[in-house]
Amino acid sequence: MSKEKIWLSSPHMGGTELKYIHSAFDENWIAPLGPNVTGFEKDIQVFLENDGKSECEVAALSSGTAALHLALVLLGVEHGDEVICQSMTFAASANPITYQGATPIFVDSEEQTMNISPLELENAIQDRIQKGKKPKAIIAVHLYGMPYQVDAIEEISKKYDIPVIEDSAEALGSTYKNKNCGTFSDYSILSFNGNKIITTSGGGALVTRKKEIKDQAVFRATQARDAAPHYQHSKIGFNYRLSNISAGIGRGQMEVLAERVSQRRKMFEFYVNLFSEVEGITVQQAPNSDYFSNHWLTVIHVDPEQCGFDREVLRLHLEQENIESRPLWKPMHLQPVFQDAPFYGTGIAKKLFQNGLCLPSGSNLSDEDRDRIGSAIRECLTKYSKNYG
Ligand SMILES: Cc1ncc(COP(=O)(O)O)c(C=O)c1O
Repeated sequence: MSKEKIWLSSPHMGGTELKYIHSAFDENWIAPLGPNVTGFEKDIQVFLENDGKSECEVAALSSGTAALHLALVLLGVEHGDEVICQSMTFAASANPITYQGATPIFVDSEEQTMNISPLELENAIQDRIQKGKKPKAIIAVHLYGMPYQVDAIEEISKKYDIPVIEDSAEALGSTYKNKNCGTFSDYSILSFNGNKIITTSGGGALVTRKKEIKDQAVFRATQARDAAPHYQHSKIGFNYRLSNISAGIGRGQMEVLAERVSQRRKMFEFYVNLFSEVEGITVQQAPNSDYFSNHWLTVIHVDPEQCGFDREVLRLHLEQENIESRPLWKPMHLQPVFQDAPFYGTGIAKKLFQNGLCLPSGSNLSDEDRDRIGSAIRECLTKYSKNYG
C-alpha cells in the first residue's frame, strides 16, 4: 500500500467554521451578502490594523483574481493601456490585465526577496514612457509570503506617480517594518483559495485605505446597480462578491490565523535545520529583520553544480515517496501565452525558476510527516549528492 500523501499546502480547518455556516443556514442567509460577510470583513480589518500603523477597509470577494481585476477597473485601466507586473508570480497576478484589453509589461526579480526588482522596474517605466506610454499601474507581489522591497517600490511609485496594486494573496500575516502586508496600497488584494494560509474554499478580498474605494469595489462587485427601485446601470458590473457561506468558513479561519502563521514558520525552521550543513542547497530567507514572512511556502534553491543533482531529481524522489513539492512559479515572460509581452530584466527570475523548489509547508503537517520528509530528503542527498554523508 502506498504511503499517505503529504501535500504542499492543504486546507486546515480550525474547528469553529461550521458554527458560522450553521448560523447562515439557521437564519437563511444563503446569499452573497449577510452577517458572515460583514463579520469576516471586520475580522480581516481588525487583524490588519493590529500593527497599530494601518487603517483599512475590506471588501470580501469571490477570489483574489476578482480583487485584482476590480483594482484594475477602479484604476481606470482600459484597452490599449500598459500595466507593469512582476514576472515571477502566479498567472492570476497578470491575467486580469488582459481582461481589460491592456498589455502586461513584465519585470524581473531581485534575488533577496525573489520579488520585483526596483532597478528593473525603474528601467521599465523610463523605457515605456520614452516609447510613448506611461504604465497605468504596477502589480507587485509578496511571493510565498516574503514581502517585496516595499520602501523602494513605493518610492518609484511616487516618483513617477504610478499606483501600486499590492498582490498580497500569499502574504496574509507577513509584515514589512512591522506593518502588515495587505495595507501598503489603496488597492491591496488577498486570496483565500484552498492552498493559502487560511481559506474560505475559494475567496479573496480587496483591501484599501479609503472608504470610497471600498464602496466602489462593492458596487462593481454586485453588478453595479445604481440607486433606483428598478434595475438601472450606468457602469459595467461584475458578480464578484463572496458568499455568506464561504465567509462563514473565513470567520472560523480568522480565529486561527496567528497560529497558522507560527505553524508555517515552524515548517520553515525545520527546513533551515535540515539543510544547515548541506552544501549547494540554500533555504530562501528574509534579507533582514525588516522582512517578516509568514513562510506560506518554504523555498529552497538547488545548485546543480555543487550538489551533483538538480531540483527535478529531488522533486521526483519526493514524488516517489508520495510527498508533493513543486517548482517555483514559472515566470510570466517565459509563458507561451505571454510570449509577445515586453520584459525588462537580466534572467534572475528564470534562474530562480530553474533551481527553486517549494517544499511541503502546510500548517497541518505532523511530526511524523516531518520525519518522512526529512528521511526522504536525506535519502536523496545520500544517493545523488557529491558532498553529502
Ligand atoms: C500571487 C497570487 N496572486 C493572485 C492569486 C489569485 O487568487 P485566487 O486563487 O483567490 O483567485 C494567487 C493564488 O491563487 C496568487 O498566488
